[in-house]
Amino acid sequence: MIRTRVLGIGAHLPANIVTNDDLAKKVETSDEWIRTRTGIRERRIVAEGEKTSDLALGAARAALHDAGIDAGELDLVICCTTTPDETFPSTATMVQSRLGMTRGAAFDLQAVCSGFIYGLSVADNMIRGGQAHTVLVIGAESMSRLLDWNDRTTCVLFGDGAGALVLQGYDAKGDNSDQGILNTRLFSDGRLHDMLYTDGGPSSTRTTGFLRMQGKEVFRHAVTNIAEAIQASADAAGIPVADIDWFVPHQANQRILDGTAKKLGIPAEKVVSTVAVHGNTSAASVPLALEVAVRDGRVKKGDLVLLEAMGGGFTWGAALIRW
Ligand code: UT7
Repeated sequence: MIRTRVLGIGAHLPANIVTNDDLAKKVETSDEWIRTRTGIRERRIVAEGEKTSDLALGAARAALHDAGIDAGELDLVICCTTTPDETFPSTATMVQSRLGMTRGAAFDLQAVCSGFIYGLSVADNMIRGGQAHTVLVIGAESMSRLLDWNDRTTCVLFGDGAGALVLQGYDAKGDNSDQGILNTRLFSDGRLHDMLYTDGGPSSTRTTGFLRMQGKEVFRHAVTNIAEAIQASADAAGIPVADIDWFVPHQANQRILDGTAKKLGIPAEKVVSTVAVHGNTSAASVPLALEVAVRDGRVKKGDLVLLEAMGGGFTWGAALIRW
């Protein structure tokens, strides 16, 4: 059977670091409140004129370099983002052009913080279905552009950045020892739209609107939904959760990471956490965290890695990969 394996990984962060103390000068908050409630110490924020496509391009180039392939070999670019440069055309086509690609296809995918898991799933299905052989999946966000900087309940939580994977199909045995994506599991429940949304958009207000969130409600659903997705992915592979080597969660809040790990009996050492230095970077958060764990040598060839996320919609999901 055809499976999808990872050829390369890359990340790109804006240079500008904003600490909790910096934010405390703008809104009524404190380093202590932000750290104890979320685990976040600092986040990266795009500079004036720096766009989502710039971050996406940086991550794409790093992933292609890591994969050792040329952009001309890509059949498809998927950019998972909620903060495109323009309402249209897609940020993916901008990246395609800036990579010098003259063939293949490119589109954006919008599933907010679950975007990268959705993007991986689409890429995996297109590779296994034979429509593409080599795919670049990028998670890239400039969440700072969607924030109401007067709303302390949201503006302290998010950050900007991008991460990317180069994926390629290969002929695999078809059992759990195969390298690559073993399965993906996607979920959504549109009834919960009002828990996390923007109060605007092209067809409603003709503006982008600002991010609005009922934090407590999102928190409550997050632990349950993420635990469900992890279990569904492990069950689909017939692998006990305890056999998974690394958990790379969406980095929304350290307390959500801890709560989910506790619910499933996962030891804290197996959970990759970068929330302290990235904040919540929406669709970029999973590939950014994965890149850190690959670079520092924690995630090694043959390891079982479980990626998971949950975000607006609500959307949530998981992907199980043998590295
Ligand atoms: O990526 C998509 C998923 N997003 C998430 O997963 C986020 C999920 N939610 C959360 O992470 C948490 O709910 C928050 C971090 C957003 C909030 O933590 P909480 O423990 O639920 O706090 P809270 O909303 O109950 O607020 C507690 C208090 C309130 O004051 P009162 O009403 O008790 O007087 C808030 O007004 O903290 C106040 N507060 C703040 N104080 C200082 C809210 N934001 C701040 C702030 N600084 N930035």
